[in-house]
Amino acid sequence: MATKLRDGNSVSSGLMLSDGIAAKWPTIIVFDSGVGGLSIYNEVRQPLPDARYLYVFDNEAFPYGEKSEQFIVDRIVAIVGAMWRLHKLDMVIVACNTASTISLPALREHFPCPIIGVVPAIKPAARLTRNGIVGLLATRATVQHSYTHNLINQFAPNCQILQLGAAELVDMAEAKLHGEMVPLPVLRELFRPWLRAVDPPDTVVLGCTHFPLLSPELQSTLPEGTRLVDSGSAIARRVAWLVEHNIDVSGLQSEAGPNRVYCLAATPQAMALMPVLTRYGFGSLEKLTL
Ligand code: DGL
Repeated sequence: MATKLRDGNSVSSGLMLSDGIAAKWPTIIVFDSGVGGLSIYNEVRQPLPDARYLYVFDNEAFPYGEKSEQFIVDRIVAIVGAMWRLHKLDMVIVACNTASTISLPALREHFPCPIIGVVPAIKPAARLTRNGIVGLLATRATVQHSYTHNLINQFAPNCQILQLGAAELVDMAEAKLHGEMVPLPVLRELFRPWLRAVDPPDTVVLGCTHFPLLSPELQSTLPEGTRLVDSGSAIARRVAWLVEHNIDVSGLQSEAGPNRVYCLAATPQAMALMPVLTRYGFGSLEKLTL
């Protein structure tokens, strides 16, 4: 088995024990309120195609962007706890900016495996911008959270950050994966303040994991040349690095089995996602009971 490293560089046997015995592969949960986490999963599986992935989406409490902090923390600890009882987990990826900015300390307190969070890619955006104006697109919860303000103060103190809390985009990404067209006039309306600005942002942070699923539509709505930055490739690098170096390979729980998807409510709408999930390499969708 080989670990395919990003940038097309191949690294053979990223998981090789010192005696040369091929190592076991980790079981990784990728969690989101909806389909957004698939954008992260899609990046993570590039360097680690042989890991075992359990995708969990909380369609019962979706959307998280409008929920209270305490609700989100309690909910995620309960969900990861339920998965912990069902499977031998090696790593948890909270593939949701809204949940990560709020729940990482609680998760790390409860579960003794690496917990990887996804937060808005402010730092790379601040490096990439040429006009010093960066747009931040995220849920209202993420835009308002002190974690995000701290990221801005720490990594982009000299940039002008134009924030847009856009819950509509989350729904549009969900609808797109259900086969619906993305309404471009609605997008244009949403971005009107930026489109009319004398100096619009030249770099836009996609601070919600749903938004990379809308990249073509966002790119065609925003001024030509606008750079979209998300956290997916950085998360993939981090996870691959942890798997290669940091996780005690011999201690991997390594539960064998196919990639699976769990939802919190077995609705017809959730079931209708099956063709999409199959395209992403998942074979089954089950209800997770808390
Ligand atoms: N995908 C989630 C995020 O990255 C947001 C979706 C929601 O509001 O539930 O923030």
